[in-house]
Amino acid sequence: MSRTPLIVGNWKMNKTIKETKDFCLRLKNELTAQKNGPVEVAVAPPFTALAAAAEAFLGSTIAVAAQDVFWAESGAFTGEISPPLLADAGCRYAVIGHSERRQYFGENDESVNKKAAALMKAGLIPILCLGESLKERQGGLAFSVVERQTREGLKDLGVKNPADLIIAYEPVWAIGTGQTATPQQAQEIQAFLRKLLRELFSPAMAQGVRILYGGSVKPDNSAELMAMEDVDGALVGGASLDVQFFVEIVQGARTKKK
Ligand code: 13P
Repeated sequence: MSRTPLIVGNWKMNKTIKETKDFCLRLKNELTAQKNGPVEVAVAPPFTALAAAAEAFLGSTIAVAAQDVFWAESGAFTGEISPPLLADAGCRYAVIGHSERRQYFGENDESVNKKAAALMKAGLIPILCLGESLKERQGGLAFSVVERQTREGLKDLGVKNPADLIIAYEPVWAIGTGQTATPQQAQEIQAFLRKLLRELFSPAMAQGVRILYGGSVKPDNSAELMAMEDVDGALVGGASLDVQFFVEIVQGARTKKK
């Protein structure tokens, strides 16, 4: 079974509603003109601009992702956003467990697990982020850290359809640092994660779930990363804020052999 590459732009805390509209309309135009292999594309604007992005993408297949979510459906949770509210704003995906949320906002494997379950219940697709810190890598703990994050983050989730889950391997030391993991480093972790999915779910899930790489992905390194067998796309931070860079990264993914 082949996996269609997926490129997601994580804008983090950037872009106003107007900037979002302009970007998304331009992106829609540019991608309509692209040829070659199929690629799925999504952008993750701040909550305030989700609906504007969804509206700008009408008539295209480009999807909208949220950058976080809370697990309750509704209620007295001041400041939080539920899966049904994200669906209402036009989201298909939500990023959970991003290292910046783990680092600054107390996200942990348990909250990630609750968020994943709540998203699935609402028919949204979690993009589960995980990855080791520099200290953990230097201490030889990269595999055990990503294994724990995967096991705990996906605990008791009865996912059967591979399209219902996305994993993003983002080594913390490569995020926003300009220091990308080598294609081999990404491949060895991502092959390991795929094997783990086999144990946690099924061979079909392991074969079909898309595992993205994230961490300083740029137009000039994306193709070599995506050439790796178990790298099924990218979660792009800084370079996704520039339409031209983002379009080039998408174009690069069209040449990936499946
Ligand atoms: P950069 O591409 O800016 O390193 O960010 C990666 C990231 O955190 C995507 O979620």
